[in-house]
Amino acid sequence: MRGSVLSNNQQWWDERARLHGADLVYDVSAFLAGRSTLYELDHAVTGSVTGQDVIHLQCHTGMDTLSWLRAGARRVAGVDFSPVAIDKATALAQSAGLADHAQFYVADILDLPVHLRAAFDVCYASRGVLCWIDDLDEWMRQARAVLKPSGRLVLIDMHPLFLMADSVDPLVLDFPYAADGPQRFENQAGSYAAPEAATEHNSTTEYAHSLAEIVTAAIESDLTIDHLGEHLAVETDGPRGLATREDDGLMRWRHTGQPLPIMFSLRALPS
Ligand SMILES: C[S@@+](CC[C@H](N)C(=O)[O-])C[C@H]1O[C@@H](n2cnc3c(N)ncnc32)[C@H](O)[C@@H]1O
Repeated sequence: MRGSVLSNNQQWWDERARLHGADLVYDVSAFLAGRSTLYELDHAVTGSVTGQDVIHLQCHTGMDTLSWLRAGARRVAGVDFSPVAIDKATALAQSAGLADHAQFYVADILDLPVHLRAAFDVCYASRGVLCWIDDLDEWMRQARAVLKPSGRLVLIDMHPLFLMADSVDPLVLDFPYAADGPQRFENQAGSYAAPEAATEHNSTTEYAHSLAEIVTAAIESDLTIDHLGEHLAVETDGPRGLATREDDGLMRWRHTGQPLPIMFSLRALPS
């Protein structure tokens, strides 16, 4: 059962990875010209990575991964289960002249290569990661396992409340707040980065995890949380098309005038 869900989701991601590269989120030309795809929030929660080794879980086509090198990291690794995404990440590292300091691996995040254990100062994952994961406890154990004793996990993801919403006006919720088994979607056409793109593989299976479940999974995986943030004003909403950019340049998701959380950030250290 897990194998067929994983393979279906992987095919969905392979097709999106093939599409991405010349859109608003993944602009290869801008990246090669020196643009970083990391946001202020990433830097604020992660802190300095100068001279450090960073692993990026669910790295997609590697732009954030490689951006950590431009931010001063000594060495980066990226892992994703999509071979199309990893091929693109590897090619991007070569085109950007960063290949000597970057390694990319095709792997299920719940079954990371053993040689990655205890090797990294930072384990980073961001924006659309946990909703693909059935076993949250195992995800946390794998993230914990790749950290050096002095390392830190940095997880910046969509807030579970934000993931519930299908539309804002009217407010329609089509996803549970907390764990409630696999959620099958049959009409996930297009891509968050290229919404108009014609796609053939349009079904996914996703999983809800409440903030309490995420925090508890981290604690039970021998991690000590030293930062937890809920973000009502963000530089990007994913993009999911639910939030609006306001006059201060930040995006908010308002219901009857009140901003609701769009993202959360968590930093945790090996206990
Ligand atoms: C929304 S993307 C993450 C976005 C990424 N932070 C970026 O900026 O491009 C989610 C990624 O998770 C990967 N993924 C989903 N389930 C996975 C799994 N079980 N193991 C490894 N990668 C997985 C997908 O292939 C996809 O690249």
